[in-house]
Amino acid sequence: MPDIESLLKEKRVFKPSPEFSRQANWNRKTVAEYRKLGSTNPTRFWAKMAKEHVSWFTPWKKVLDWKPPFAKWFVGAKLNVSYNCLDRHLEGENAWRRNKAAIIWEGEPGDSRVITYAQLHREVCKFANVLKGLGVKKGDRVALYMPMIPELAVAMLACTRIGAPHSIVFGGFSADSLRDRINDAGAVVVITADGGYRRGSSFALKPMVDKAVEGADCVEHVVVVKRTGETTGMMSPRDVWWHDLMANASPKCPAAKLDAEHPLFILYTSGTTGKPKGILHTTGGYLVHVATTAKAIFDLKDEDVFWCSADIGWITGHSYVIYGPLANGATTVMYEGVPTHPGPDRWWSIIERWGVSVFYTAPTAIRTFIRLGDQHPKKHDLSSLRLLGTVGEPINPEAWIWYHRVIGGRKCPIVDTWWQTETGGIMITPLPGAVATKPGSATLAFPGIDAEVLSEEGDPTKPPGGGFLAIRKPWPGMLRGIWGDNQRYAETYWSKWKNIYFAGDGAHREKDGYFWIMGRVDDVMNISGHRIGTMEVESALVSHQLVAEAAVVGRPDEITGTAIVAFVTVRVGTKTDVDLVDTLRNHVTKEIGAIAKPKEIRFTDALPKTRSGKIMRRLLRDIASGKDTVGDTTTLEDYSVLAALRESDDG
Ligand code: WT7
Repeated sequence: MPDIESLLKEKRVFKPSPEFSRQANWNRKTVAEYRKLGSTNPTRFWAKMAKEHVSWFTPWKKVLDWKPPFAKWFVGAKLNVSYNCLDRHLEGENAWRRNKAAIIWEGEPGDSRVITYAQLHREVCKFANVLKGLGVKKGDRVALYMPMIPELAVAMLACTRIGAPHSIVFGGFSADSLRDRINDAGAVVVITADGGYRRGSSFALKPMVDKAVEGADCVEHVVVVKRTGETTGMMSPRDVWWHDLMANASPKCPAAKLDAEHPLFILYTSGTTGKPKGILHTTGGYLVHVATTAKAIFDLKDEDVFWCSADIGWITGHSYVIYGPLANGATTVMYEGVPTHPGPDRWWSIIERWGVSVFYTAPTAIRTFIRLGDQHPKKHDLSSLRLLGTVGEPINPEAWIWYHRVIGGRKCPIVDTWWQTETGGIMITPLPGAVATKPGSATLAFPGIDAEVLSEEGDPTKPPGGGFLAIRKPWPGMLRGIWGDNQRYAETYWSKWKNIYFAGDGAHREKDGYFWIMGRVDDVMNISGHRIGTMEVESALVSHQLVAEAAVVGRPDEITGTAIVAFVTVRVGTKTDVDLVDTLRNHVTKEIGAIAKPKEIRFTDALPKTRSGKIMRRLLRDIASGKDTVGDTTTLEDYSVLAALRESDDG
């Protein structure tokens, strides 16, 4: 792997400055103490964190009940996530936070809203009553398909207030993807908006919901937020306007006392098959994990303005736009639109105007900004920043250094955080006041997390060396299952080794114990920090009537990390021209969403296969990442001839 080779040649070390360490929530001493406790007695460590960072209505009887591969954390305890994110910041010694900004929101057209903790609490209570009024009961699933507007945060917290697990579907997914997710979760209500803003114009969301719900009988109501004001067809009595329901809703709604293992949310992510997995997270353990990591890794203080640029439709947005920061009483920034509207400096202008002090984003965004040029961030005063973070994929050292120099003004520590939808919260990361960083390395496991690099057989790699990234002990934020499919849960994550979690990533460990994550080892691609299964895109392609067969692979891409390349064989007599390329790319967008749109489509007469009929992806990957000449396909054709010969041998 050439990428990891270049990462490993990275010798620069950035030690935490004494000034940062002095003020850090977790300094060297704390971290050393927690590492010791976390490795000798992880349940005691997490119980300590649970007491410190979360408020409970009823204490637990047992910290962990581990019947592999099923874990229960804080057994017997009762709590409520919205209570932890809101109510407790309005009471007693925290009452001063009533009028502190909980959310600073900026719309793409330039409109903005600052919502205090007291206001957010009121809105959430009202919407929780709205949900109850629509017949939503504890345990019922609610699907959210919304732009990045404050109502999304309100809806999430209202769901948690009454114990209705939410399933957020990223607004970029197609109607078909939305329908699949609504049906899989059996959602009774869908919350959406008339539309949203992106790249300077409005787009409609509600028509997608109409299309999706046509084939989803479980849905009883669709709640629509008016965002863009465009003409929206409303089907009575199914469809209801958010503002109509809110106008008469009572602002009093006690937070339900929920079991620590009550389902909190389902979030779909791609796997190696065509069917997305509904990752299930529950209440107590998840909240302990995200509240603790947000406080320790982002060093959150009451004065901070924290901005995680992820869309709430992804796990990063769930954990570090909403739940982690709000559980800590922090101010969190939400931005609706694209980074480059109206100009390439939009993000830097947000940081300057709102005084963002801690900023968390993805390597793909950083690479985009590098390409756009230093003049854009340099136009803005970014001196409010004191800490930076990255997530989603390995960061190349050049991008790390640029981020450090141009955005961080050489003074901000960078936390490169490794985790997954399944892990709920951050797992491998520097602690900014205690751990020296190396560009491209996520450094060390968070205290209480037993991360290791294992061989195929499950033996720990002797550093320096590479293998599969594994987590050897349960952790509070871990997924509790795949919605409706315990067998797939056990097979996907717990079958490679006995009672050890298989993350699906390759990793390398150095003598100093530092982790260098090398990317996926399965048939899952990482596109701009988001997972897309090769099978998912293949299924979408073959669902087109002109396609006979398709094989999809990833190839390195300067901006998105990986780009999707599809090898396609068409039905006999089909004209393989640029029009068909467009048709197929749009077809994938329609089936899954723009995030899965192949960058390149190559037509071929046959796909190279093994004797058993398995597509030789390694070969296709080589071809895809080679030079972009048409000549490449000849190699492929040679192989397809070979494959064809082998098949006739078998016959
Ligand atoms: C996959 C998880 C929760 C993060 C957002 C993506 C890759 C994530 C890093 C990192 C190297 C990373 C891994 C992982 N990844 N963070 N700091 N360094 N790789 O969540 O869609 O569940 O994807 O993202 O490959 O398995 P996700």
